[in-house]
Amino acid sequence: MKKSVSYPVYCILFSLLTTLSCQNKNNKPTSEQKWWKEAVVYQIYPRSFKDSDGDGVGDLKGIISKLDYIKSLGVDAVWLNPIYSSPNDDNGYDVSDYRNIMKDFGTMTDFDSLLSGLHKRGIKLVMDFVLNHSSDEHEWFKQSKSSRTNPYRDYYHWWNADRPKPAPRYSLFDVNHDAWKYDSASNAYYLHYFSKKQPDLNWENPKVRKEIFDMMKFWADKGIDGFRLDAFQFAAKDTSFPAFPKGYEQDFVKYYAMGPHLHDYLKEMNKEIFSKYDVMSVAEGAGNSFEDAHNLVDEDRKELGMAYAFEAVDIAKQSGYSLLHFKEVFSKWDSVFAQKGWLAIFLANHDQARLVSRFGNDSAAFREPSSKMLTTFLMTMRGTPYYYNGDELGMTNAGFTDIKQYKDMATLNEYQNQKNIGGDLPSFMKIIQFSCRDNGRTPFQWNNTANAGFTTGVPWLSINSNYATINQEAQEKDPNSVLNYFRKAVKLRKDNPVLVYGKYTLLEKNDPNVYAYVRELDGRKLLIILNFTSRRVSTNLGMYINRARKIALGNYTTPSTDGTLQPYEAVVYEL
Ligand code: GLC
Repeated sequence: MKKSVSYPVYCILFSLLTTLSCQNKNNKPTSEQKWWKEAVVYQIYPRSFKDSDGDGVGDLKGIISKLDYIKSLGVDAVWLNPIYSSPNDDNGYDVSDYRNIMKDFGTMTDFDSLLSGLHKRGIKLVMDFVLNHSSDEHEWFKQSKSSRTNPYRDYYHWWNADRPKPAPRYSLFDVNHDAWKYDSASNAYYLHYFSKKQPDLNWENPKVRKEIFDMMKFWADKGIDGFRLDAFQFAAKDTSFPAFPKGYEQDFVKYYAMGPHLHDYLKEMNKEIFSKYDVMSVAEGAGNSFEDAHNLVDEDRKELGMAYAFEAVDIAKQSGYSLLHFKEVFSKWDSVFAQKGWLAIFLANHDQARLVSRFGNDSAAFREPSSKMLTTFLMTMRGTPYYYNGDELGMTNAGFTDIKQYKDMATLNEYQNQKNIGGDLPSFMKIIQFSCRDNGRTPFQWNNTANAGFTTGVPWLSINSNYATINQEAQEKDPNSVLNYFRKAVKLRKDNPVLVYGKYTLLEKNDPNVYAYVRELDGRKLLIILNFTSRRVSTNLGMYINRARKIALGNYTTPSTDGTLQPYEAVVYEL
């Protein structure tokens, strides 16, 4: 789903105008201070974090047993992937009961203990809400499919098969990528943008919206601190389902995102929920342009709090990526949001392969310095950093070689599709080795005992074979470990509001090896220099470095001071 998006000229103009018109005299951001802007969010994939009962699946009690570890990281909030009742076609992103906990994960009592355990430690909880679709095993869908006249019929999108088949819609996870699934019970097709077990909810129906807002209130009343709205940019639809031009599926987001009444639905949600509870809100995806992204989070519009855009994350390809492109993307998003609105900063999550394998270098020689360098980047940019569990250890892609090792439904369905159409399976295997979501979902590596200390049973997804060397217990003992560096980087951010709100200025824009920028607020200035290569490189930054008062953070015990940088060296200077 995360397609790269292109930005037409009008958006660039829009960005310039926004920047100029919102600039105040001191060049200080005008956006209000909020806890969620100052937070570091740590994302936990519950299935893979810690298993407490030996069934091979991580669970809530497992997370509870690791609360002190989470606290020790210094993070402010946890984003938990979905934990509601689910038949697990898509690991919980197919919800069958929004007010209950998935059996594999535990009970509502466990949830209450988790929430109070987090709160006792001063950590907030952001829940993942799957609102674009439910499971086909949700009671609403069971009713809906039972007959054309059932009161729940309009909770989903149906197209009676008495008429010719509707215009094609692309399903991301379907074996044939056909989003219209025929159902004989009522001789009709239902719509599913994701798998056939994830029918799309009909947001155009006010009853659906009310049900969903009531469910959100249920969780907000429990005291949770935020909502991540899964795939929400796709919720609103033109229900006449017009035909799209040939090849539309190549630009899925352009055709499907930001449907006709999306902003109205978000305004309703804001009125019902966000205006009444002190919760943060972030939707997955930010539309097709800067303008879309802005409109989602412009404070005056009263919709969402923070934009989560994919353009940067999509840059990393198996063949590598260009640092110039990377710098350009981050710099342009920063400039558009410099004065108004707020961004999430991330390079990994549960839908991506591992941070160090995609954006760094996971070879034995460079895994540590490149992990630390990427952490430095994430913790020193403007926006709220989202950091995915396991990346703080520098966990790497598993790179499974046999399709039987993979569990991700999207990958398995695509494998089947490739087989059906006579695709090149060896090439497909190479692609998924690098990019399959399972790479980022292998169980957390706690120690070097059996199954990395994740479970006493058979893990639901194989453990990465490098757990004997890459694990939390070993890294606790090493003051220079990737883990301990992550803690220092988080602390640096927490101690320096300049890293949260400060102005960002890119230096040496055309240097293809080094990313350097200054962050500045109220006279305090930090200079961040990052070598994105595995070579020693020279820079033109000597004059800045000479002015530096001290090093605030660095990933080498002996940093270079002569204007050159060691492989993947990262240094934060106080100017
Ligand atoms: C989002 C989730 C992803 C899920 C999909 C369908 O992209 O992040 O994991 O498969 O939505 O719910």
